[in-house]
Amino acid sequence: MTALLNAANLLEADTLREASDFLQRYQQETGQPDPTRLEDLRREMTHTGKFELSFGELEWAARVAWRNSTRCVGRLYWPALEVRDLRHVTAAQEVFGHLRQHLHDAQNGGQLRPIISVFGAGVEILSPQLLRYADDPANAELCRVLEQLGWQAQGERFELLPVAIRGAGQAPQLFDLQPEEVLEVPIQHPEFPALAELGLKWHALPLVSDLSLDACGMRFAAPFNGWYMQTEIAARNLADQGRYNVLPDVARALGLATRHERSLWRDRALLELNIAVLFSFEQAGVKIVDHHTAAQHFVRFEEKEAQAGREVRGRWSWLIPPLSPATTPIWERQYNDEEERPNFARCPYH
Ligand code: ARG
Repeated sequence: MTALLNAANLLEADTLREASDFLQRYQQETGQPDPTRLEDLRREMTHTGKFELSFGELEWAARVAWRNSTRCVGRLYWPALEVRDLRHVTAAQEVFGHLRQHLHDAQNGGQLRPIISVFGAGVEILSPQLLRYADDPANAELCRVLEQLGWQAQGERFELLPVAIRGAGQAPQLFDLQPEEVLEVPIQHPEFPALAELGLKWHALPLVSDLSLDACGMRFAAPFNGWYMQTEIAARNLADQGRYNVLPDVARALGLATRHERSLWRDRALLELNIAVLFSFEQAGVKIVDHHTAAQHFVRFEEKEAQAGREVRGRWSWLIPPLSPATTPIWERQYNDEEERPNFARCPYH
């Protein structure tokens, strides 16, 4: 009993330290020292174990969580993240309504905008991303969960899965998106028409929902989106042998002989598929970045952070692109990969 109590006290002390660290860093960085607010925090945390962030604090937390995301190469744009304060929203049906609005506003007719929606305590989004396909082997486990909740596959290619949400104190529920509210891009190649006949496509928006916002000793379900780098789709989602595994089909569409590995048909197919994804998004008027431009942006991010007197941490194996990594300036750099808060953390239920 004493040991348990001590553990609980320790946990509280940790949370209190985390919370006041957060507030101090916020005040320092925004140049708004506010000793009263720090006092309030200490008092409320000690008496109620809770503390409500102001909108300014929440907004800063979400943006800095992006800035601190060691795996993300697109961090230059962290100050532009639009933060939606939905902490009053805890019922599944309402969460879904707001996610729909998020999807619509973030897609923005192709001019994608980075948005994060921060939901209330107890909300869990079981789907790892808002948009997921049933026939993508990466989602096999998710499909089993959805089946238990009553979903049945139609068996189509690129079939959109329903979104599974658990409202605070509720059982998980499934919600369907309408096909017309989801922006998707059919894949075609500027020089090889046969590639379009493969019927490949991908959704425009990566809307990640299996990471929670970890700030000030609290965790919020907080789905967010940026925009794609083409390698995510062309060098991984469609190409991985454990995903759509389309390189043999692409090679055939390009008329490549696939008998000998040393002909490097896989590499040629991979390169043309990357060109095709960039071309298709451009044709469809949907924002996407190539890996060379993204790496240049990352270097600029590093320069800006250095000017601000901050260290950029990173996970090198995630920052280098899976296509031609050694052609980017990131290749020869080194990064400290220790995590800092605020950050995005894997949700406990995933
Ligand atoms: N790699 C994931 C996917 O292919 C998306 C992760 C987030 N990516 C991004 N560009 N914000 O769906």
